[in-house]
Amino acid sequence: MKVAIASDHGGIHIRAEIKKLLEELGIDYEDFGCNCETETSVDYPDYALPVAEKVANGEFDRAILICGTGVGMSISANKVKGIRCALVHDVYTAKLTRKHNDSNILAMGERVIGPGLAREIAEVWLTTEFEGGRHERRIGKIKEYEEKHLTDKNDRS
Ligand code: RB5
Repeated sequence: MKVAIASDHGGIHIRAEIKKLLEELGIDYEDFGCNCETETSVDYPDYALPVAEKVANGEFDRAILICGTGVGMSISANKVKGIRCALVHDVYTAKLTRKHNDSNILAMGERVIGPGLAREIAEVWLTTEFEGGRHERRIGKIKEYEEKHLTDKNDRS
């Protein structure tokens, strides 16, 4: 599995923690920034959108995005066709969003949870498989909607 990771200035500490976890788990990852300190303010869509496109295009299997609340990152990522970004702040949802929603991006908020819980959430999310079955049908309905109504093919060339 290849994972992309990014945060805005509001998520740099959890991003560092998740990078350690990815290394411990031996998961291949690439860090897409931000290259900033807490006092440097950047805009979350500048990180969420390119990373989401990399997942949608198959360059990366999954991504983890962190901002202050996780909301800006999740709203932005979910604009990209093919992305199922779950904003998660508890371990139960981390597990279920993989089993039931086959979420391909995890968003978290550093101003909402601490690094310990973020790490547990990320580990469960990274290691839980999609259940398929009836959940496949439900995701299929989202894909059908995307095919019908979204014209963006994630092709920026
Ligand atoms: C940045 O101040 C903050 O708005 C951002 O990190 C995030 O929480 C937005 O949803």
